[in-house]
Amino acid sequence: MKFIIDRFDGQQKYKQAYELSMDEVKGQTLLSLLQHIKRTQDITLNFTAACRMAICGACAVRVNGHSYLACDTKMEELLEEYKNPSSMTISPLNNFRVISDLVVDWEPSIENLRKIKPTITPQEAFSNKHGCKQTQEEVNRIKKQWDCILCGCCASECNKLEADASDYMQPFVFTHAYRAAADSRSKDPMIHVKPSVMNGLWNCVHCQECADRCPKGISSFSDIANLRVKAVANGLDEGEGPGHATAFLTDIVEGTGRLNEIKLALRSEGVIKNMGKMDIAFNLMGAGKMNPLHIFEGDEIEGHEDLVKMIKAARAASKE
Ligand code: SF4
Ligand code: SF4
Ligand code: FES
Repeated sequence: MKFIIDRFDGQQKYKQAYELSMDEVKGQTLLSLLQHIKRTQDITLNFTAACRMAICGACAVRVNGHSYLACDTKMEELLEEYKNPSSMTISPLNNFRVISDLVVDWEPSIENLRKIKPTITPQEAFSNKHGCKQTQEEVNRIKKQWDCILCGCCASECNKLEADASDYMQPFVFTHAYRAAADSRSKDPMIHVKPSVMNGLWNCVHCQECADRCPKGISSFSDIANLRVKAVANGLDEGEGPGHATAFLTDIVEGTGRLNEIKLALRSEGVIKNMGKMDIAFNLMGAGKMNPLHIFEGDEIEGHEDLVKMIKAARAASKE
């Protein structure tokens, strides 16, 4: 079987193929396979790993474009997933600068983690003598996020980072911001929420790829949604993102339950910004994809009353 590895020697990128027998492949993890190639075929191949037990997060790479934690990925499972292919491509994580072969630069991610202040400033009620006690329920709220091992699989898959990383942070950074903000021992959640808002919290494109690929089952997408709730609840409700979210809910609760695209755009971005998009609107109308009469809404959707009751109950529960 052929393994094509994306290499980078500091100056140029190239692909290098390694042939392995199925005996050499079976029974291996993706990490031990890379180590085998390095040991038996090419000492110059570079990658990172340390714990070999899914704890340090150092070994994530991509196979056929998707991210995997190499030490926690059995080759048999990969072969089954890709239907016993004759070759596989192994690449460094996407959305990271490549330093050498499969080794990527973590410094910009660490810089972003510093921005959201991942350590907790404890409430004054806590002290060295009495400690910072938490109920099991309070621990459960952030237990999952503590599992993050900073492997970067989520960031590698993130469509927003791929499209434009200039106004966004890696998904796991938002997970750590939420973990700190939702910690019952924290003096002020806004210490972590504010820098999240200032560094792209509302720019997530909701693709959920981060949640699909996390080897620890963490949903940065959900953490982003929860950070947004905290931001709006604490008065950070200005701008297109909060406007869009509020308008969405207004259509569902106060309107007919139908999403009104025309009103949504006006409420999210305002009339002036939408004036500049009139050409798009006319094109959509010409193609029959937008009906200007929809601004007057239609019939109430079936079950709307129950939907509103559910939303109100969820709001009451979250206040409790
Ligand atoms: S849901 Fe948001 S954070 Fe997650 S991968 Fe998509 S754009 Fe990135
Ligand atoms: S959230 Fe999951 S995928 Fe992202 S860095 Fe943490 S453990 Fe890895
Ligand atoms: S080597 Fe530590 S997580 Fe894989």
